[in-house]
Amino acid sequence: MAEFVSRFDTLRWRGERLEMIDQRVLPAEIRYLAFDSALTVADGIRDMVVRGAPAIGCAAAYGVALDALRLQQKSPAEFNRDLGSAFCALAASRPTAVNLFWALARMRRAWEACRDAAPAQSAQRLLEEAHAIFKDDVAANRSMGRHGAELIPDGASILTHCNAGALATAGHGTALGVIRSAIESGKKVSVIADETRPFLQGARLTAWELMQDDIPVTLIADNAAGHLMSRGEIDVVIVGADRIAANGDVANKIGTYQVAVLAQRHRIPFYVAAPLSTIDAAIASGADIPIEERDVDEVLGYRDLRWAPVEAIARNPVFDVTPAELVTALITERGTVPAPDAGKISKLLNGS
Ligand code: MRU
Repeated sequence: MAEFVSRFDTLRWRGERLEMIDQRVLPAEIRYLAFDSALTVADGIRDMVVRGAPAIGCAAAYGVALDALRLQQKSPAEFNRDLGSAFCALAASRPTAVNLFWALARMRRAWEACRDAAPAQSAQRLLEEAHAIFKDDVAANRSMGRHGAELIPDGASILTHCNAGALATAGHGTALGVIRSAIESGKKVSVIADETRPFLQGARLTAWELMQDDIPVTLIADNAAGHLMSRGEIDVVIVGADRIAANGDVANKIGTYQVAVLAQRHRIPFYVAAPLSTIDAAIASGADIPIEERDVDEVLGYRDLRWAPVEAIARNPVFDVTPAELVTALITERGTVPAPDAGKISKLLNGS
């Protein structure tokens, strides 16, 4: 079939502003919020208006560009000082997805390359770099999709966790991009989506996103995955990632680790689809990946509804680490890496 064309924009540049679909209110409401500074973008990332590792990276890049444009009338010294604060604010928004820091590093290199230019020129250059980061992400997802589609059997029932789709990227998606590409290549597949407590990315976002494209999707409670695997109802698991350590350990949405353990128990392939910007070669193993803990209110209830006792104690770690040994293959824009380990990841990053 023809390529899927997205019916929504996760992020878009309109006029001199960044607009992002508000993922906190989907699917009940489809609304776009406008952002005009790095600080408001940092708040949008922290509050989950935008979420998903590559989308967070794109948003941060546009956050830098917005401040560069806002500051372009200032003297070069003031421009350089204040733009430095924009980088700090964005870097402090969320800790786990390395794509955020990758995008900021790329923006910093672009900034350093034009340090001697007039602020207005630097601002234009930084906006171009943000657009390039966005465009590169879509291209990476398309390429990853083509590589990953080859691993998906025709007729497969595919379990996914969280949302690693167009909503989590600049477009097409990573895990859901592989599913889209498999369908584009003529395969018939269906998706089982974990609801993904506590923020419900699966129930609210993955189900909505796939339904927009008429891709068959069935929602399950997170704790139903083992049962369906034991009945032979899942052929493949495919998830995204927020940070992959140099040895192939994968940080992704909380609950991914238990899905990977279940998949191993049932001999079901467990694939991780992620762009190279998600690999953090500076971190030796998953044990060193910073794991975000969010407000426990997300566990004690949902929005205005509280179901836990008033004084209940709770924890809310929102990512976990799946050891590389549980990963059947890593799918990247540069190809597929079966049984990833330090040696293979280093070769992948070196392009050999
Ligand atoms: O807390 P979130 O919603 O930002 O977490 C997102 C995930 O864990 C995704 O699986 C990951 O970022 C991959 S997105 C292509």
